Amino acid sequence: MPVRLGFFGCGGIANHHMTKIKDIPEAQMVAFYDTDAERAKKAAETYGGTVFDSPEKLVAEGGVDAVYICTPPFAHGDLELAAIEAGKAIFVEKPIALTMEVAREIEAAANRAGVVTSVAYHFRYFEATRRAEAALADTTISAFLGYWMGGFPMVYWWRRMDLSGGQMHEQTTHILDLARLFGGEVKAVAAAYGLRCKMDIEGITVPDVGTVTLFYESGAVGAVSNCCHLDFGFRVGCDIIACNTTATLNGNSLVLRSPDRTEELSFDNDPYLAEDIAFIKAVATGDASGIRSTYSDGVRSLALSLAANMAAEQRRVVEIAEVG
Ligand SMILES: NC(=O)c1ccc[n+]([C@@H]2O[C@H](COP(=O)([O-])OP(=O)(O)OC[C@H]3O[C@@H](n4cnc5c(N)ncnc54)[C@H](O)[C@@H]3O)[C@@H](O)[C@H]2O)c1
Repeated sequence: MPVRLGFFGCGGIANHHMTKIKDIPEAQMVAFYDTDAERAKKAAETYGGTVFDSPEKLVAEGGVDAVYICTPPFAHGDLELAAIEAGKAIFVEKPIALTMEVAREIEAAANRAGVVTSVAYHFRYFEATRRAEAALADTTISAFLGYWMGGFPMVYWWRRMDLSGGQMHEQTTHILDLARLFGGEVKAVAAAYGLRCKMDIEGITVPDVGTVTLFYESGAVGAVSNCCHLDFGFRVGCDIIACNTTATLNGNSLVLRSPDRTEELSFDNDPYLAEDIAFIKAVATGDASGIRSTYSDGVRSLALSLAANMAAEQRRVVEIAEVG
């Protein structure tokens, strides 16, 4: 019996997951809800299944085991709670919320209900990321240097700080998540943001360039820089500096350097497919060991970008504990 999936939000990334899930025999997409009903209808016409006009009806009547929550940062909270209260597993797109209050409420509800959770930090599923983790396992990390130097997503909500949380929160969250994966937990941050190039976008309230300094609990240091004003791909990735070893990650390519050796590796696994398979397997079997970012883990990555936003706004060092 396949795992039966519902979707809350049927926009860009939801459709990307749908194109992966259609080829996973252990899963079936059966129920769709979007505040834009046309989008839910299109998904149901493409993949089969039923359109619902509320999240509560979908979980009550849709016959689903799990729900993909593929909504923008501002649209989290009630959707997750509706699914969890009905005992459904949740797969949540990053960033998981706009505030720690919303995320903590969902985390507590998920823990109480004991449902399977997964957050869409797909960079964790690149084979290159796994190889870098293995290569660095016995080293001491001294620094993490991350980059998200990219373009400006033109969906209406992305340009507004109160809807998206801005570049550090929205896309660079993937790199901050890798900063935790490789360097461990961060104690405090300092940050500087600016708006230098995209002032002509109507209604823009997000910065288009930023950098955050990470003070790790271990004593290691980090810096993650971003921009969203380039009309060409520049760099999305990171360098991890350990004692006499470095790892450079760019998507699924990895360069490992040590005093006597440089090793260049590239892989072709699909991290989106991998995260979908891991979630679907966990729902089918109850064994969640293949999930690389649970909701609780995602909450810790969320705290980093919220602390960075606070540090940039208030021009001071912010302890992660301050954001809750
Ligand atoms: N992991 C990745 O690589 C990746 C890539 C792209 C987007 N994303 C993330 O996915 C999320 C959505 O991005 P997108 O590009 O799909 O945006 P989008 O605007 O294309 O789609 C969002 C959809 O959610 C719907 N929606 C909004 N509020 C809703 C609500 N309350 N209930 C139900 N539906 C609602 C909208 O109508 C829309 O169809 C963002 O958080 C984004 O960061 C992740």
